[in-house]
Amino acid sequence: MNGMRSASEMNQSIFSLKGRVAIVTGGIGLLGKEHCYALSEFGASVVVCDLNEEACERFAKHLPTSSMGIGANVTDPLSIRRLLNRVLQKYGQIDILINNAALNDKVEDPLFEEEGRRFEHYPLRWWKAMMETNLTSVFLCSQIIGTQMVKQGKGKIINIASTYGMVGPDQSLYQTPEGKQTFYKSAAYSASKGAILAFTRFLAAYWGKAGVRVNCLTPGGVENSQADFFIQNYAIRTPLGRMAKVTDYWGAIIFLASDASDYMTGANLVVDGGWTAW
Ligand SMILES: NC(=O)c1ccc[n+]([C@@H]2O[C@H](COP(=O)([O-])OP(=O)(O)OC[C@H]3O[C@@H](n4cnc5c(N)ncnc54)[C@H](O)[C@@H]3O)[C@@H](O)[C@H]2O)c1
Repeated sequence: MNGMRSASEMNQSIFSLKGRVAIVTGGIGLLGKEHCYALSEFGASVVVCDLNEEACERFAKHLPTSSMGIGANVTDPLSIRRLLNRVLQKYGQIDILINNAALNDKVEDPLFEEEGRRFEHYPLRWWKAMMETNLTSVFLCSQIIGTQMVKQGKGKIINIASTYGMVGPDQSLYQTPEGKQTFYKSAAYSASKGAILAFTRFLAAYWGKAGVRVNCLTPGGVENSQADFFIQNYAIRTPLGRMAKVTDYWGAIIFLASDASDYMTGANLVVDGGWTAW
């Protein structure tokens, strides 16, 4: 069977990341840690990247493969160039980039004060900050680190989007049973995540012949000690009847990072318990 792998060969190798080097931005956040862990478990050396270098180093030491932590600000081109140089000095290559860092305004940990969270009052400076961290950073990291992948002739970029980039936030999730609105998910978050889907398609088309695959992962909401009423509201609204566990994205990350997804680019892998299905 010309060009085909046997089933046992596939079992052994198709998801393996042995010998690969991966950068995860926002690597010490709630999901960033899980992405690092999954990549490392499947054999990759992981560069844990976040704002605080010491915390990145501390976390990287606990990963099963030889990994490193680097402090970098993904909105600053100089900082990203330094990150890339250090990675190349240590490993000589970069195979996988997960653009995961973001300002994610969460009901359990709101970024902003109460006043101004409503769209009618939402301040321009917050809109700009979110666009800078969630979207411009993806452009910069893809440009600087992806260009190295182009030189190597291959690479995988995985952009982390959100269901709220595909459908509008259901603001009633944040209402207590008594009808008090405790939080509003912002327009800036939705708009930044929607733009990531468009950027992913742009770059996939642009770098297809260069061998660099660019795909999106769209996660649904993760349970993280939110108020009971919120967890319940979310579960009722989800076909699978629950919020995501932090480990629910391991499979998708491994799939998108490994040879298993080699004929895939410009796609959006939606892992949301069915949230966007109705
Ligand atoms: N948690 C969820 O329910 C959920 C759902 C859908 C999508 N997502 C997406 O998944 C990704 C991770 O979300 P999370 O919940 O782990 O968020 P998080 O807030 O826990 O982690 C984000 C990390 O990004 C880092 N970061 C922020 N600005 C940075 C910068 N300028 N440079 C470098 N690092 C920076 C933060 O320090 C933090 O560690 C985000 O893109 C988010 O939008 C999360």
